[in-house]
Amino acid sequence: MRSELEQIKSDLVAALNNVVDRDALEKVRVEFLGRKGKMGELMRQMAGLADEERKLIGQLANEVKQSVEAGFAKAESDISRAEAGAVAEKEWIDVSEPGVAPNEGHLHPVTRIKESIEDLFTSMGFSVLDGPELESDFYNFTAVNVPPNHPARDMQDTFYIDGRPGEVMRTHTSSIQVRAMREYGAPLRMIAPGRCFRNEATDVRHEHTFHQIEGVVVDKGINFGHLKGVLEAVAKHLYGPATEVRLRPKFYPFVEPGVNGEVTCFICKGDGCRLCKHTGWLEVFGAGMIHPNVLKEGGVDPKEYSGFAFGFGLTRLVMLKYGIDDIRWLQSGDTRFLSQF
Ligand code: DAH
Repeated sequence: MRSELEQIKSDLVAALNNVVDRDALEKVRVEFLGRKGKMGELMRQMAGLADEERKLIGQLANEVKQSVEAGFAKAESDISRAEAGAVAEKEWIDVSEPGVAPNEGHLHPVTRIKESIEDLFTSMGFSVLDGPELESDFYNFTAVNVPPNHPARDMQDTFYIDGRPGEVMRTHTSSIQVRAMREYGAPLRMIAPGRCFRNEATDVRHEHTFHQIEGVVVDKGINFGHLKGVLEAVAKHLYGPATEVRLRPKFYPFVEPGVNGEVTCFICKGDGCRLCKHTGWLEVFGAGMIHPNVLKEGGVDPKEYSGFAFGFGLTRLVMLKYGIDDIRWLQSGDTRFLSQF
Protein backbone atom coordinates (compact mmCIF):
# COMPACT_ATOMS: atom_id res chain seq x y z
CA MET A 1 0.00 0.00 0.00
CA ARG A 2 2.91 2.24 0.75
CA SER A 3 4.25 1.75 -2.73
CA GLU A 4 0.80 2.42 -4.17
CA LEU A 5 0.75 5.71 -2.36
CA GLU A 6 4.18 6.60 -3.75
CA GLN A 7 2.92 5.57 -7.19
CA ILE A 8 -0.08 7.88 -6.89
CA LYS A 9 2.22 10.74 -5.97
CA SER A 10 4.52 10.25 -8.95
CA ASP A 11 1.57 9.60 -11.30
CA LEU A 12 0.08 12.85 -10.20
CA VAL A 13 3.26 14.80 -10.80
CA ALA A 14 3.40 13.34 -14.30
CA ALA A 15 -0.31 14.07 -14.95
CA LEU A 16 -0.05 17.66 -13.75
CA ASN A 17 2.95 18.25 -15.98
CA ASN A 18 0.75 17.63 -19.00
CA VAL A 19 -2.10 19.85 -17.86
CA VAL A 20 -2.50 22.95 -20.07
CA ASP A 21 -5.93 24.30 -19.20
CA ARG A 22 -8.76 24.15 -16.67
CA ASP A 23 -10.59 21.30 -18.41
CA ALA A 24 -7.55 19.07 -18.30
CA LEU A 25 -6.90 20.03 -14.69
CA GLU A 26 -10.46 19.10 -13.75
CA LYS A 27 -10.05 15.68 -15.36
CA VAL A 28 -6.93 15.03 -13.34
CA ARG A 29 -8.68 16.22 -10.20
CA VAL A 30 -11.55 13.75 -10.72
CA GLU A 31 -9.07 10.98 -11.46
CA PHE A 32 -7.11 11.46 -8.25
CA LEU A 33 -9.31 13.24 -5.70
CA GLY A 34 -12.82 12.50 -7.00
CA ARG A 35 -15.25 10.31 -5.13
CA LYS A 36 -14.24 7.32 -7.20
CA GLY A 37 -10.73 8.62 -7.58
CA LYS A 38 -7.42 6.89 -6.80
CA MET A 39 -6.97 8.53 -3.38
CA GLY A 40 -10.48 7.62 -2.24
CA GLU A 41 -10.00 4.04 -3.39
CA LEU A 42 -6.88 3.73 -1.33
CA MET A 43 -8.50 5.31 1.70
CA ARG A 44 -11.29 2.79 1.51
CA GLN A 45 -8.81 -0.06 1.34
CA MET A 46 -7.17 1.28 4.48
CA ALA A 47 -10.29 0.35 6.45
CA GLY A 48 -9.29 -3.31 6.24
CA LEU A 49 -5.83 -2.84 7.79
CA ALA A 50 -4.76 -3.73 11.29
CA ASP A 51 -4.81 -0.79 13.76
CA GLU A 52 -1.06 -0.38 13.97
CA GLU A 53 -0.56 -0.60 10.23
CA ARG A 54 -3.50 1.71 9.53
CA LYS A 55 -2.00 4.39 11.72
CA LEU A 56 1.29 4.38 9.86
CA ILE A 57 -0.28 4.19 6.42
CA GLY A 58 -2.86 6.80 7.41
CA GLN A 59 -0.11 9.25 8.24
CA LEU A 60 1.60 8.62 4.97
CA ALA A 61 -1.72 8.87 3.13
CA ASN A 62 -2.31 12.27 4.70
CA GLU A 63 1.07 13.48 3.59
CA VAL A 64 0.41 12.28 0.05
CA LYS A 65 -3.04 13.88 0.10
CA GLN A 66 -1.54 17.18 1.18
CA SER A 67 1.10 17.13 -1.49
CA VAL A 68 -1.56 16.18 -4.06
CA GLU A 69 -3.64 19.19 -3.02
CA ALA A 70 -0.61 21.46 -3.08
CA GLY A 71 0.17 20.12 -6.56
CA PHE A 72 -3.32 21.09 -7.70
CA ALA A 73 -3.12 24.54 -6.17
CA LYS A 74 0.13 25.18 -7.95
CA ALA A 75 -1.19 23.85 -11.27
CA GLU A 76 -4.26 26.06 -10.90
CA SER A 77 -2.23 29.20 -10.24
CA ASP A 78 0.05 28.36 -13.19
CA ILE A 79 -3.01 28.17 -15.43
CA SER A 80 -4.35 31.51 -14.11
CA ARG A 81 -1.04 33.15 -14.80
CA ALA A 82 -0.95 31.69 -18.32
CA GLU A 83 -4.46 32.99 -18.98
CA ALA A 84 -3.53 36.49 -17.81
CA GLY A 85 -0.46 36.30 -20.03
CA ALA A 86 -2.63 35.39 -23.01
CA VAL A 87 -4.85 38.46 -22.40
CA ALA A 88 -1.79 40.70 -22.09
CA GLU A 89 -0.48 39.22 -25.31
CA LYS A 90 -3.75 40.01 -27.11
CA GLU A 91 -4.10 43.52 -25.71
CA TRP A 92 -0.48 44.41 -26.10
CA ILE A 93 0.37 47.89 -27.36
CA ASP A 94 3.66 49.43 -28.28
CA VAL A 95 3.63 52.73 -26.42
CA SER A 96 6.67 53.91 -28.37
CA GLU A 97 4.94 53.52 -31.74
CA PRO A 98 4.06 56.85 -33.45
CA GLY A 99 0.31 57.56 -33.33
CA VAL A 100 -2.04 57.56 -36.31
CA ALA A 101 -2.07 61.17 -37.52
CA PRO A 102 -5.62 62.60 -37.53
CA ASN A 103 -6.90 64.07 -40.78
CA GLU A 104 -6.43 67.72 -39.96
CA GLY A 105 -7.55 69.82 -42.90
CA HIS A 106 -6.14 73.26 -43.62
CA LEU A 107 -7.09 76.74 -44.73
CA HIS A 108 -8.89 77.23 -48.02
CA PRO A 109 -6.63 78.67 -50.77
CA VAL A 110 -8.77 81.84 -50.86
CA THR A 111 -8.24 82.31 -47.12
CA ARG A 112 -4.49 81.79 -47.52
CA ILE A 113 -4.06 84.46 -50.17
CA LYS A 114 -6.45 86.77 -48.32
CA GLU A 115 -4.38 86.49 -45.14
CA SER A 116 -1.15 87.04 -47.00
CA ILE A 117 -2.55 90.23 -48.57
CA GLU A 118 -3.88 91.36 -45.19
CA ASP A 119 -0.38 90.94 -43.78
CA LEU A 120 1.09 93.08 -46.54
CA PHE A 121 -1.45 95.87 -46.05
CA THR A 122 -1.27 95.92 -42.27
CA SER A 123 2.52 96.25 -42.65
CA MET A 124 1.80 99.44 -44.65
CA GLY A 125 -0.46 100.82 -41.91
CA PHE A 126 -3.84 99.80 -43.34
CA SER A 127 -6.63 98.54 -41.09
CA VAL A 128 -8.69 95.51 -42.10
CA LEU A 129 -12.44 96.16 -42.08
CA ASP A 130 -15.52 94.05 -42.59
CA GLY A 131 -19.05 94.70 -43.82
CA PRO A 132 -22.36 92.87 -44.24
CA GLU A 133 -22.93 90.49 -47.15
CA LEU A 134 -26.63 91.31 -47.20
CA GLU A 135 -26.16 95.03 -47.83
CA SER A 136 -28.45 97.97 -48.23
CA ASP A 137 -29.07 99.06 -51.79
CA PHE A 138 -27.80 102.43 -50.61
CA TYR A 139 -24.27 101.37 -49.61
CA ASN A 140 -23.93 98.91 -52.46
CA PHE A 141 -25.03 101.32 -55.23
CA THR A 142 -26.33 104.78 -54.40
CA ALA A 143 -23.55 105.78 -51.98
CA VAL A 144 -20.87 104.83 -54.52
CA ASN A 145 -22.38 107.06 -57.15
CA VAL A 146 -24.74 104.57 -58.76
CA PRO A 147 -28.16 106.11 -58.15
CA PRO A 148 -31.40 104.18 -58.77
CA ASN A 149 -32.16 103.75 -62.47
CA HIS A 150 -28.57 104.57 -63.41
CA PRO A 151 -27.46 102.33 -66.30
CA ALA A 152 -24.29 101.40 -64.41
CA ARG A 153 -26.47 99.17 -62.20
CA ASP A 154 -26.74 96.82 -65.14
CA MET A 155 -23.02 96.07 -64.86
CA GLN A 156 -23.70 94.16 -61.67
CA ASP A 157 -26.89 92.11 -61.54
CA THR A 158 -27.36 90.65 -58.10
CA PHE A 159 -29.68 88.66 -55.83
CA TYR A 160 -32.58 90.22 -53.98
CA ILE A 161 -34.08 88.63 -50.88
CA ASP A 162 -37.84 88.08 -50.53
CA GLY A 163 -39.23 90.28 -47.78
CA ARG A 164 -36.11 92.48 -47.58
CA PRO A 165 -36.84 95.39 -49.91
CA GLY A 166 -34.01 97.88 -50.22
CA GLU A 167 -31.36 95.21 -49.60
CA VAL A 168 -29.16 93.25 -51.97
CA MET A 169 -26.50 90.57 -51.69
CA ARG A 170 -23.55 92.89 -52.15
CA THR A 171 -22.15 92.83 -55.66
CA HIS A 172 -18.73 94.17 -54.66
CA THR A 173 -16.75 95.17 -51.60
CA SER A 174 -16.95 98.81 -52.73
CA SER A 175 -20.07 98.86 -50.51
CA ILE A 176 -17.67 99.29 -47.59
CA GLN A 177 -16.15 102.55 -48.86
CA VAL A 178 -18.82 104.90 -47.55
CA ARG A 179 -19.48 102.81 -44.43
CA ALA A 180 -15.77 103.15 -43.54
CA MET A 181 -15.62 106.90 -44.22
CA ARG A 182 -18.74 107.50 -42.13
CA GLU A 183 -17.36 105.41 -39.29
CA TYR A 184 -13.74 106.61 -39.25
CA GLY A 185 -13.64 109.83 -41.29
CA ALA A 186 -10.43 111.14 -42.87
CA PRO A 187 -7.56 110.39 -42.96
CA LEU A 188 -8.30 106.73 -43.70
CA ARG A 189 -6.26 103.75 -44.82
CA MET A 190 -8.17 100.51 -44.98
CA ILE A 191 -8.77 97.28 -46.87
CA ALA A 192 -11.92 95.16 -46.71
CA PRO A 193 -11.81 91.59 -47.98
CA GLY A 194 -15.11 89.77 -48.42
CA ARG A 195 -17.57 87.62 -50.29
CA CYS A 196 -19.58 89.13 -53.12
CA PHE A 197 -22.48 87.83 -55.16
CA ARG A 198 -23.74 88.26 -58.68
CA ASN A 199 -26.52 86.77 -60.70
CA GLU A 200 -24.22 85.09 -63.20
CA ALA A 201 -24.73 82.28 -65.64
CA THR A 202 -21.88 80.24 -64.15
CA ASP A 203 -19.06 78.87 -66.23
CA VAL A 204 -15.31 78.30 -65.80
CA ARG A 205 -14.73 82.02 -65.24
CA HIS A 206 -17.99 83.14 -63.59
CA GLU A 207 -19.49 82.15 -60.28
CA HIS A 208 -22.43 83.55 -58.29
CA THR A 209 -20.21 83.81 -55.19
CA PHE A 210 -16.65 85.12 -55.24
CA HIS A 211 -14.20 87.17 -53.19
CA GLN A 212 -12.84 90.67 -53.57
CA ILE A 213 -10.55 92.94 -51.60
CA GLU A 214 -11.40 96.60 -51.50
CA GLY A 215 -8.90 99.28 -50.58
CA VAL A 216 -9.37 102.94 -49.70
CA VAL A 217 -6.87 105.66 -48.86
CA VAL A 218 -8.11 109.18 -48.04
CA ASP A 219 -5.83 111.97 -46.93
CA LYS A 220 -4.65 115.42 -47.91
CA GLY A 221 -2.71 115.48 -51.18
CA ILE A 222 -3.30 111.85 -52.20
CA ASN A 223 -2.65 111.41 -55.93
CA PHE A 224 -2.42 108.84 -58.66
CA GLY A 225 1.24 108.11 -57.91
CA HIS A 226 0.30 106.85 -54.44
CA LEU A 227 -2.27 104.55 -56.02
CA LYS A 228 0.21 103.09 -58.46
CA GLY A 229 2.84 102.60 -55.75
CA VAL A 230 0.46 100.61 -53.56
CA LEU A 231 -0.79 98.47 -56.43
CA GLU A 232 2.77 97.69 -57.47
CA ALA A 233 3.62 96.63 -53.93
CA VAL A 234 0.71 94.18 -53.98
CA ALA A 235 1.58 92.83 -57.42
CA LYS A 236 5.23 92.26 -56.47
CA HIS A 237 4.21 90.69 -53.16
CA LEU A 238 1.99 88.20 -54.98
CA TYR A 239 3.90 87.50 -58.18
CA GLY A 240 7.51 88.45 -57.54
CA PRO A 241 9.74 91.54 -57.75
CA ALA A 242 9.91 91.61 -61.57
CA THR A 243 6.15 92.15 -61.83
CA GLU A 244 5.03 95.43 -63.37
CA VAL A 245 1.68 97.20 -63.20
CA ARG A 246 -0.09 98.77 -66.17
CA LEU A 247 -3.04 101.12 -65.72
CA ARG A 248 -5.45 101.89 -68.53
CA PRO A 249 -8.48 104.16 -68.43
CA LYS A 250 -11.76 102.48 -67.59
CA PHE A 251 -15.11 103.75 -66.38
CA TYR A 252 -16.22 102.91 -62.87
CA PRO A 253 -18.93 105.17 -61.42
CA PHE A 254 -17.19 105.57 -58.04
CA VAL A 255 -13.87 106.88 -59.35
CA GLU A 256 -12.73 109.72 -61.55
CA PRO A 257 -10.47 109.02 -63.32
CA GLY A 258 -10.88 105.25 -63.22
CA VAL A 259 -8.47 102.58 -64.40
CA ASN A 260 -8.28 98.98 -65.19
CA GLY A 261 -5.16 97.48 -63.58
CA GLU A 262 -3.08 94.76 -65.15
CA VAL A 263 0.06 92.97 -63.99
CA THR A 264 2.82 91.30 -66.02
CA CYS A 265 1.75 87.77 -66.83
CA PHE A 266 3.75 85.64 -64.40
CA ILE A 267 3.64 82.59 -66.68
CA CYS A 268 5.27 84.09 -69.79
CA LYS A 269 6.82 87.10 -68.02
CA GLY A 270 5.19 89.40 -70.54
CA ASP A 271 6.09 87.54 -73.75
CA GLY A 272 2.51 86.43 -74.39
CA CYS A 273 0.94 83.03 -73.72
CA ARG A 274 -2.43 81.32 -73.54
CA LEU A 275 -3.15 82.48 -69.97
CA CYS A 276 -2.75 86.18 -70.84
CA LYS A 277 -4.33 85.67 -74.27
CA HIS A 278 -1.00 86.65 -75.82
CA THR A 279 -1.06 90.19 -74.40
CA GLY A 280 1.61 89.69 -71.73
CA TRP A 281 -0.76 91.22 -69.17
CA LEU A 282 -3.30 89.89 -66.69
CA GLU A 283 -6.24 91.99 -65.60
CA VAL A 284 -6.62 91.78 -61.81
CA PHE A 285 -8.11 94.98 -60.42
CA GLY A 286 -10.11 98.14 -60.90
CA ALA A 287 -9.05 101.39 -59.31
CA GLY A 288 -9.10 105.17 -59.49
CA MET A 289 -9.30 108.44 -57.62
CA ILE A 290 -12.40 108.43 -55.43
CA HIS A 291 -15.24 110.39 -57.01
CA PRO A 292 -16.10 113.62 -55.10
CA ASN A 293 -19.71 112.39 -54.78
CA VAL A 294 -18.50 109.32 -52.91
CA LEU A 295 -16.29 111.37 -50.59
CA LYS A 296 -19.27 113.60 -49.88
CA GLU A 297 -21.50 110.62 -49.07
CA GLY A 298 -18.80 109.56 -46.62
CA GLY A 299 -18.87 112.97 -44.93
CA VAL A 300 -15.41 113.85 -46.28
CA ASP A 301 -14.88 117.28 -47.87
CA PRO A 302 -13.49 116.73 -51.41
CA LYS A 303 -11.98 120.22 -51.41
CA GLU A 304 -9.82 119.33 -48.43
CA TYR A 305 -9.19 115.62 -49.03
CA SER A 306 -8.58 113.34 -51.95
CA GLY A 307 -8.26 109.60 -52.08
CA PHE A 308 -7.89 106.50 -54.17
CA ALA A 309 -9.76 103.22 -54.13
CA PHE A 310 -9.12 99.85 -55.68
CA GLY A 311 -10.86 96.50 -55.89
CA PHE A 312 -9.02 93.23 -56.41
CA GLY A 313 -10.74 90.11 -57.59
CA LEU A 314 -9.34 87.93 -54.81
CA THR A 315 -10.81 84.79 -56.33
CA ARG A 316 -9.11 85.63 -59.60
CA LEU A 317 -5.78 86.21 -57.88
CA VAL A 318 -6.06 82.76 -56.30
CA MET A 319 -6.91 81.12 -59.62
CA LEU A 320 -3.94 82.76 -61.29
CA LYS A 321 -1.59 82.00 -58.44
CA TYR A 322 -2.41 78.27 -58.35
CA GLY A 323 -3.30 77.76 -62.01
CA ILE A 324 -6.92 76.79 -61.24
CA ASP A 325 -8.77 76.52 -64.54
CA ASP A 326 -12.37 76.44 -63.29
CA ILE A 327 -13.64 78.94 -60.71
CA ARG A 328 -16.37 76.53 -59.59
CA TRP A 329 -13.82 74.28 -57.88
CA LEU A 330 -13.29 76.91 -55.22
CA GLN A 331 -16.85 76.62 -53.90
CA SER A 332 -17.24 72.90 -54.56
CA GLY A 333 -16.16 71.70 -51.11
CA ASP A 334 -14.56 68.77 -52.94
CA THR A 335 -11.72 67.45 -50.80
CA ARG A 336 -9.95 66.01 -53.85
CA PHE A 337 -9.55 69.61 -54.99
CA LEU A 338 -8.90 71.16 -51.58
CA SER A 339 -6.31 68.62 -50.44
CA GLN A 340 -3.94 69.86 -53.17
CA PHE A 341 -3.20 73.12 -51.37
N1 DAH B 1 -16.20 97.39 -57.52
C1 DAH B 1 -15.58 97.10 -58.79
C2 DAH B 1 -16.08 95.78 -59.32
O1 DAH B 1 -16.53 94.97 -58.57
C3 DAH B 1 -14.08 97.06 -58.66
C4 DAH B 1 -13.53 98.41 -58.38
C5 DAH B 1 -13.19 99.24 -59.43
C6 DAH B 1 -13.34 98.81 -57.08
C7 DAH B 1 -12.69 100.49 -59.21
C8 DAH B 1 -12.81 100.09 -56.85
C9 DAH B 1 -12.48 100.91 -57.93
O2 DAH B 1 -12.60 100.55 -55.61
O3 DAH B 1 -11.95 102.13 -57.67
O4 DAH B 1 -16.02 95.56 -60.50
